Amino acid sequence: MGDVVIRVEKLGKKFRIGAIDKNQTLRDRIAEAAMAPFRSRSHRTEEETTIWALRDVSFEVRRGEVLGIIGRNGAGKSTLLKVLSRITRPTTGFAEVHGTVASLLEVGTGFHPELTGRENVFLSGAVLGMRRREIAAKFAEIVAFAEVERFIDTPVKRYSSGMYLRLAFAVAAFLEPQILIVDEVLAVGDLDFQKRCLGKMDAVARTGRTVLLVSHNMAAIRTLSSRVLWMESGGMRMDGEPSAVVPDYAGQGSSKGQEVIDLTRALRSGRRMGSVRLKVLSFNGGKPVHHGERATVEVTFEARDEARDVVVGVGINTVEGVRILSIDSDNGSAPVRVKAGAVLVARAHIEHLDLAPGRYLVDCAVRRSDGAMLDLIVGAGTMTVEPGSGTSPLFVRYGGGWRPALIWELEEVPASPRPAANAPSSQEAVR
Ligand SMILES: Nc1ncnc2c1ncn2[C@@H]1O[C@H](COP(=O)(O)OP(=O)(O)OP(=O)(O)O)[C@@H](O)[C@H]1O
Ligand SMILES: [Mg+2]
Repeated sequence: MGDVVIRVEKLGKKFRIGAIDKNQTLRDRIAEAAMAPFRSRSHRTEEETTIWALRDVSFEVRRGEVLGIIGRNGAGKSTLLKVLSRITRPTTGFAEVHGTVASLLEVGTGFHPELTGRENVFLSGAVLGMRRREIAAKFAEIVAFAEVERFIDTPVKRYSSGMYLRLAFAVAAFLEPQILIVDEVLAVGDLDFQKRCLGKMDAVARTGRTVLLVSHNMAAIRTLSSRVLWMESGGMRMDGEPSAVVPDYAGQGSSKGQEVIDLTRALRSGRRMGSVRLKVLSFNGGKPVHHGERATVEVTFEARDEARDVVVGVGINTVEGVRILSIDSDNGSAPVRVKAGAVLVARAHIEHLDLAPGRYLVDCAVRRSDGAMLDLIVGAGTMTVEPGSGTSPLFVRYGGGWRPALIWELEEVPASPRPAANAPSSQEAVR
């Protein structure tokens, strides 16, 4: 094992909640100001208005390790990566990082919107301390990987979300930083790009570089990581071999019910989406979901601008990331038009939930019926299906992913006469 390249000690990060966020839009701020008189602040204490996104986190990473970081939404994963990338300062403790770092985070990939793709590649290289010649030697590979040849001299603010992310990933991965930090890159892009990302991260790790990777995709975490850190409520819950940590994480569900998932801070799969914002996702309003019984999926979203032909979709995946069910509103209802500023709740009623008991990863999206993405959150949260009143114990044990209501018939049929053991076969009888 190599030397220690990252040392984190008693790291804590406190956020004030309700503080004005620089990323807020004007509309949010006006709404905030308008609502202020109706909120009682008088009895609020310091504890109620702050949140420890990280608390008492200590660990070391050695050169060449590929550290997968997992945990539920809001566990503190992105905050940890931001502290390590020096985008946010810790409130307590410290993080020592030895070596050049390239990070791909939900904010601040370091791209300048007004500069072209080409200019941003060179700027990023310069930030990593590379010489122009060294960057030029990597340039063709980066552009080819990102598939942005035609747009390389266009300002990146005109890029589609997919193009932007492909280039950002290529820059981070190909400019050969000593430490590569990636937050949920697999949330973005098509399957082909995800596969290539995985391949590239694997290749980076094989050259002995250190990789820190956050993902909700357990298959990717298991394949890539040499070690997994499971974060919970800002702290560390488990640290160890992927084969030990991932099943524990995937297996723990709460029988108390579902999370009502706040989507307002979740990582978006594109920076250019914005006319529609997903806000909340819930199953059975937070109550338990049972196999074979009625289930309700509820998605709340806000239209910042008018949008037409809107379709809401919820994708249910196994913890390994395999999609097994899509609940789309164009299946059962016509696409809708939404007015600017409207907040909508879309509710899907499933009469008979045929999904096997277990834990599932959920994606959430608002699209136009022609497929154009308006907002997309991959790995928005998890859903746990509990056994229902009619679920047989054998089924829970022997499983399968899907169990519809079945109608079985059992009928006794006349036993067919058995040929005697020494009788000649029919062929021999003909001869
Ligand atoms: N700028 C901020 N201001 C206030 N609270 C914040 C800020 N950034 C994060 N938080 C809060 O800190 C906690 C940890 O957030 P973080 O983004 O690190 O979670 P995460 O593990 O990356 O979750 P996800 O899986 O949804 O990406 C959350 O409760 C979040 O709401
Ligand atoms: Mg995050």
